[in-house]
Amino acid sequence: MRQIALVQLGIGQVGGALAKMVRAQRQQIEQKLGLRLTYTAIADIDGLAWAENGLDEEQLDEIVQVKARGIADLPFGQPIGDLTGSWKPVRSGFAGFDDGILVDVTAADGMETFLEAALRRGWAAVLANKNPLVVPLPSYQRLMATAGRRLRYEATVGAGLPVIATLRTLLDTGDEVQRIEGCFSGTLGYLCHCLQEEMSFSAGVREAKALGYTEPDPREDLGGMDVARKALILARMLGHELELADVEVEALFPVKMAALSVEEFMATLGRLDGEYEHRIAAARARGRVLRYVAEVEGSCCKVGWREVGKEDLMAALRGPDNIVRFTTKRYKDNPLVIAGPGAGPEVTAAGLLGDILALAQQRD
Ligand SMILES: NC(=O)c1ccc[n+]([C@@H]2O[C@H](COP(=O)([O-])OP(=O)(O)OC[C@H]3O[C@@H](n4cnc5c(N)ncnc54)[C@H](OP(=O)(O)O)[C@@H]3O)[C@@H](O)[C@H]2O)c1
Repeated sequence: MRQIALVQLGIGQVGGALAKMVRAQRQQIEQKLGLRLTYTAIADIDGLAWAENGLDEEQLDEIVQVKARGIADLPFGQPIGDLTGSWKPVRSGFAGFDDGILVDVTAADGMETFLEAALRRGWAAVLANKNPLVVPLPSYQRLMATAGRRLRYEATVGAGLPVIATLRTLLDTGDEVQRIEGCFSGTLGYLCHCLQEEMSFSAGVREAKALGYTEPDPREDLGGMDVARKALILARMLGHELELADVEVEALFPVKMAALSVEEFMATLGRLDGEYEHRIAAARARGRVLRYVAEVEGSCCKVGWREVGKEDLMAALRGPDNIVRFTTKRYKDNPLVIAGPGAGPEVTAAGLLGDILALAQQRD
């Protein structure tokens, strides 16, 4: 049995689902894959629970169930401190483990420092957090050079959908990727659906917020930056040396609304209704619908509104689903399409677990 130590940063919606999934699948993973996954540490924003030989089932239960108190306040928790120096070298083996995998399930900035420290000591890493992949190019290139094939990040684009794995296979097998287009935001997908159903823009945003599809400040979704980060991750995989600032981003609200408080923003949203009504009506008159699309073609990377024909697969998207379309030398006349739920704790956790298992089976 190959013994794998897991260190998980973040135990929110997705991190909680992952911890439960690891526990639920443990027996099957042991029997079918010959891998034993053991959490040696789990951290939230300010607390850390760790045990060199592995947290026991009771402790894991308590972390997942009683998370509201914060890990630092658990009887076996401690303040998180600086983790940079705390990575035991995997190569020399530690506490009986054959390999160690760091899983970043936060949305925090600055995680690349921990990641690099861990990777340098032989750990592998799995990310749901996009931020380490959209840092300035020199830091990104250093991270990638340190990681080699020991860093996986399927859940950063399309949650559990196999977007990154598919692109990696296309590239590894020598295909030439000419264009990637996709709808990568469940929130904006839902909003498009509302607009199509003749709901006003402000009512659509309010409904998406009420359903928990938006961040507490909906501008984080409506600004387009989350989609821009995903587009940049894909563009960088293609080898384009782009910065986040190079991505052309069309926000769904004017710049002057960025300075408002959340309450003021929500209260003034109705002023945009007329403009969106007009856009939707104009698209409809042309037999088309509006979608918020990310596009990478050549070294051009942009995200924004696009009118698509009703026969286009993007037009068929419902609710918060995602879609991605790869046009390549091999998939030219009939592009390769992946579609399905692009958010949600369960599917995202499954994407992470898939990466963990792939790394755990990979010996280099
Ligand atoms: N939710 C989805 O459907 C989905 C889909 C695809 C990708 N993702 C990505 O998955 C990540 C997590 O999403 P989520 O929905 O689970 O978010 P969440 O519920 O807000 O959880 C984030 C977790 O990270 C912890 N955290 C924040 N900063 C930290 C730090 N510096 N060190 C250690 N822990 C830290 C938080 O601690 P506290 O609890 O103490 O605040 C919390 O436990 C994000 O990057 C998100 O973009 C999410």
